Amino acid sequence: MKYPKTRLRRNRKSSAIRDMVQENRLHPSDFIAPIFIVEGKKQKEEISSMPGYYRYSLDMLGRELEELIEVGIESVLLFVKVPESKKDNKGTEAINDNGLMQKSVQFIKENYPDLYVMTDVAMDPYSSYGHDGIVEDGEIVNDPSVEVLAKMAVSHAKAGADMVAPSDMMDGRIGAMRKAMDDAGFENTGIMAYSAKYASSFYGPFRDALDSAPGFGDKKTYQMNPANLDEALREVELDISEGADIVMVKPGMPYLDVVHAVKQNFNIPVSVYNVSGEYAMIKAAAEKGWLNEKEVMMESLLAFKRAGADLIATYFAKEAAGLIISQ
Ligand code: PBG
Repeated sequence: MKYPKTRLRRNRKSSAIRDMVQENRLHPSDFIAPIFIVEGKKQKEEISSMPGYYRYSLDMLGRELEELIEVGIESVLLFVKVPESKKDNKGTEAINDNGLMQKSVQFIKENYPDLYVMTDVAMDPYSSYGHDGIVEDGEIVNDPSVEVLAKMAVSHAKAGADMVAPSDMMDGRIGAMRKAMDDAGFENTGIMAYSAKYASSFYGPFRDALDSAPGFGDKKTYQMNPANLDEALREVELDISEGADIVMVKPGMPYLDVVHAVKQNFNIPVSVYNVSGEYAMIKAAAEKGWLNEKEVMMESLLAFKRAGADLIATYFAKEAAGLIISQ
């Protein structure tokens, strides 16, 4: 059956038929909203390389969470900014049960119990070297780092986290965290594994947000080479076998092929992280009047769904969900 009998434009003729044959849709519950938290009081600081995105002190966070809930967002992913004085090479503050992350989780679960709370598990915001693991002789050592990460996961679970989200890329950390949480009685706390996390330059603005840029070298000995796809599937396979509940691909837009391949190969919820640099690019182009921010935002988010993502961690969560519910 070919042209002129087949005319694909028939299904694009009006808004009604376009809606009827639309294959993918965005819903507010697709989004995970990242939240940056700082110590202190009355803080709401804009991140210079992420216009419209802020770091909040806990007393200022409630309002933001209420706005997220109002537009239908169901989950948040917490990150904390740690003062220089609390950073070391052992992750001491990371496993402090009274640390800012732990207090933040408690605050949110007490006041907004239905909000699904995910926590970032990685040492870099706590590291005097800005690395995701312990540094010995210029190397990021795997197994000692995994021990800290497992303790961190337990500490977050104890505080009430619904799911921990390890973003460090150490080998074997999912299994270690699963075991540590199970042994501590937190078998119902989930793990969203940043399974295929690439050594990307798109993380720049995030490192400004948390003041967590590596003090020496780069992250190429643990994060993945952007050239590789087979390796991403191996990472995902391992994380699933170690107990991951959700696997993640990161960054997002330049890695849609990876999202697609993961979804095709595994029967597990897949999330994608639409990272800070992707957000900054759209904001910057929109500020210059070069792109229509809302349209480009919605188009990129929809592309994640088409590629196969079930969940999207994005700094656009509130704005996009607001648009969706007002339509
Ligand atoms: C670090 C971490 C990073 C991001 C999330 N967790 C940065 C990095 O690996 O250096 C990036 C998020 C973003 O850019 O939006 N564990």
